[in-house]
Amino acid sequence: LWTPANIIDDAIDRIHARVGNDQVLLGLSGGVDSAVVAALLTRAIGDRLTCIFVDNGLLRLGEGDQVMATFAQHLGVRVIRVNAEARFLDQLAGIDDPEQKRKLIGATFIDVFEEQAAQLTDIHWLAQGTIYPDVIESAGAGTGKAKVIKSHHNVGGLPEHMQLKLVEPLRELFKDEVRRIGIELGLPTDLVYRHPFPGPGLGVRILGKVTKTAADTLRLADQIFIEELRRADLYDQVAQAFAVFLPVNSVGVVGDNRQYAPVIALRAVETLDFMTARWAHLPYELLDRVCRRIVNEVPNVSRVVYDITGKPPGTIEWE
Ligand code: XMP
Repeated sequence: LWTPANIIDDAIDRIHARVGNDQVLLGLSGGVDSAVVAALLTRAIGDRLTCIFVDNGLLRLGEGDQVMATFAQHLGVRVIRVNAEARFLDQLAGIDDPEQKRKLIGATFIDVFEEQAAQLTDIHWLAQGTIYPDVIESAGAGTGKAKVIKSHHNVGGLPEHMQLKLVEPLRELFKDEVRRIGIELGLPTDLVYRHPFPGPGLGVRILGKVTKTAADTLRLADQIFIEELRRADLYDQVAQAFAVFLPVNSVGVVGDNRQYAPVIALRAVETLDFMTARWAHLPYELLDRVCRRIVNEVPNVSRVVYDITGKPPGTIEWE
């Protein structure tokens, strides 16, 4: 019988059988999947779990602190937080090609993660939040039949020299199942039902070159959009909503002054499978409020636009 409690019991038995009394390492991303793995492993093996959380500087507003509050404080998990913002931004400096940005972010993540892991002794296992759709998608990408539109960096295994064995307790589960066991394990609803966030984070929502100024601007705008969606009770009605930073200057007027500043685009979609999507027909009043708040509260934004492109032809992310 499929109940969250049964799935958890079964997963815990399998984790015990697989890792025995060994120590396990997990990369926490801030997303639902790795969060559920962390909660599951904590239940299964207690303090034999160590997590590494790489803050790449491309997370949403307050996300890093929230991860620490949820896991380190609330669940008592050992979490090593690595502040790697400067390193990621340094690597990304001057790069504007989306796929190259993805590769760099993925590679830098692995470098940082490995350096941290190398300082830990006696760890034999690496846990990952791979879920069933990730398995299918990466299988398809390898056949040459499915066009690889974007490289996802959370699947594909480890560098040879890391020599950790993999434990992937969510490998057979769909997203809604992962969420249900997350709730059963006591994770906060906000975290469990949060919209998906790409591995490269704001790196692919800042079009072109990634800078700290752009990331800070985007974080504030995104936060306002999400806050207003929640306030209007529409957050759970859309599958994904976010702001995008456009490095295009447009003229605006602030007070008595003419401003020549970047544009923020808002994207909200309805979809079940993320393969196709319809742009969310959000109420004009809501869009109006979000726009006013962004232009008034976020420094150096001259204009806000709403993306009305479906998928296809538009992808959900802009890069
Ligand atoms: P697209 O933009 O391809 O997005 O329509 C479909 C879903 O995938 C997410 N996405 C990514 N997730 N790494 C990820 O982990 C990526 O590079 C990446 N690119 C897109 C996107 O947010 C949406 O949910």
